[in-house]
Amino acid sequence: MPVSEDVISALIALKRTDAEGLAAQLTSQIRGLIADGRLAKGRTLPSSRRLASDLGVSRNTVTYAFEQLAAEGYLAASHGRRPVVTVDGGERVEGTGAAASGARSRKPRLSPWASKLKQADWPLSYQAPLKPLRPGHGDFREFPNEIWARCLRRSAVQAARRQLGSVNRSRLREALAHYLANSRGVRATADQIMILPSAQAALTLIAAAIITPGDGVWVEDPGYPGAAAAFRASGARLTGIRLDEQGMQRMPGRTAPTLIFMTPSHQHPTGRLMSLARRTELLRLSRPGKTWIVEDDYDGEFHYDSRPVPALQGLDAHGRVFYVGTFSKAMTSDIRLGYLVVPPALVGTFETAQRHIGLIAASHIQEALAEFIADGHFLAHLRRVRRLYHARRDHLVEGLQRHLGEVLSVEVPSGGIQLVARLKRGRTDQAAVERLGAAGVVTRALSSLALERPRDHGLLLGFAAWRENEISVALRTMASCF
Ligand SMILES: Cc1ncc(COP(=O)(O)O)c(C=O)c1O
Repeated sequence: MPVSEDVISALIALKRTDAEGLAAQLTSQIRGLIADGRLAKGRTLPSSRRLASDLGVSRNTVTYAFEQLAAEGYLAASHGRRPVVTVDGGERVEGTGAAASGARSRKPRLSPWASKLKQADWPLSYQAPLKPLRPGHGDFREFPNEIWARCLRRSAVQAARRQLGSVNRSRLREALAHYLANSRGVRATADQIMILPSAQAALTLIAAAIITPGDGVWVEDPGYPGAAAAFRASGARLTGIRLDEQGMQRMPGRTAPTLIFMTPSHQHPTGRLMSLARRTELLRLSRPGKTWIVEDDYDGEFHYDSRPVPALQGLDAHGRVFYVGTFSKAMTSDIRLGYLVVPPALVGTFETAQRHIGLIAASHIQEALAEFIADGHFLAHLRRVRRLYHARRDHLVEGLQRHLGEVLSVEVPSGGIQLVARLKRGRTDQAAVERLGAAGVVTRALSSLALERPRDHGLLLGFAAWRENEISVALRTMASCF
């Protein structure tokens, strides 16, 4: 039943003691009201001033929630106007009549995997407004769109002329085997490489093929929530492994798990590089043949201070390492292409699994990318943006140290696209993220990347995607907020 504007605030209950910040609670409660039809499409919401006063929160909190919901597509919000609901959740779920309401109250029976999805779900960083210093991606404005469009056009025309089934599926895999061997030290033949729609698809496929409910899985803590989600949904028992300066610690005295997930080149989110000694120790752990290692090299293309450290997969002489990569960071996240290097003994199983799940990337996009790589455009693009991102990292680090050194301590990553600035003096990062978000600077709370109990408070700040002048403006705003 739709509600009138006057009672919207009565349906919202915010808890100041909740670990989730006020803005996050408000965002999810308004989202819920839209999804269950109580705020129908076309409904105008109260102004941020009015809702803030009704709820007894700051106007910044409400503005942040409105902006977030606008970025997610639930609201149309423009400066000086009250936001309007743009989707009709109620129509979809509610239907009409008794049959529909009966169907709604009955809970559908789901598989163990689907039942765990909600609990395992994680907040997507790319749902945050696309503003400086949102972390998690490169600068899409620097991508050579014209060249890419030519490759795409050629492959689309060829695909239209081609006989069905005559696609050369190995061209991209061969190009990738060559690129990964030369630039990352990965040792793999083309048939070990699977082209998938994303790195996340690779993680889900590994979880489906390897994990039996109850299996132990170690993940970095703090770490990449998408990986934890994929393994948790498969029924794994997750253990968060703390980090020291050498990266993920080994856990002496514990039984080796079924799988260890890690980001050794630039740990997500801290950017730390795993030492050779630590890599060797973890590989040794996998050697008795019980433990699989998943190496996620999501932004290994970007290194600034020295020669890149080769992938851990290249050190593995026993076929225990899966190597995962993505084109989301080096090209654009819309390309929807990732890859998985499968240990030799599992190639057949994974090919069948890929076909069963249908995780096959569009062939004309694969062909276009093979051409883009073979003609040297990929490496040329990487060389160019690597220089840019290097300068942007230095600019952000220098600005943080100069203007915010009292409140933030920066961990300078040797590569990657983002960095962590830890909060000094016991502040909570969620409150800082909300305050900065309301002032127009998008960041991510380090605590939101903890496996269970957050112990670290800091801000994850993207530098690769933002021009130096944009970084400077964001730094000034940050300095005025703290
Ligand atoms: C560490 C890490 N791995 C994997 C991914 C996912 O990449 P994709 O977009 O290809 O699924 C991300 C995306 O943010 C990431 O940060």
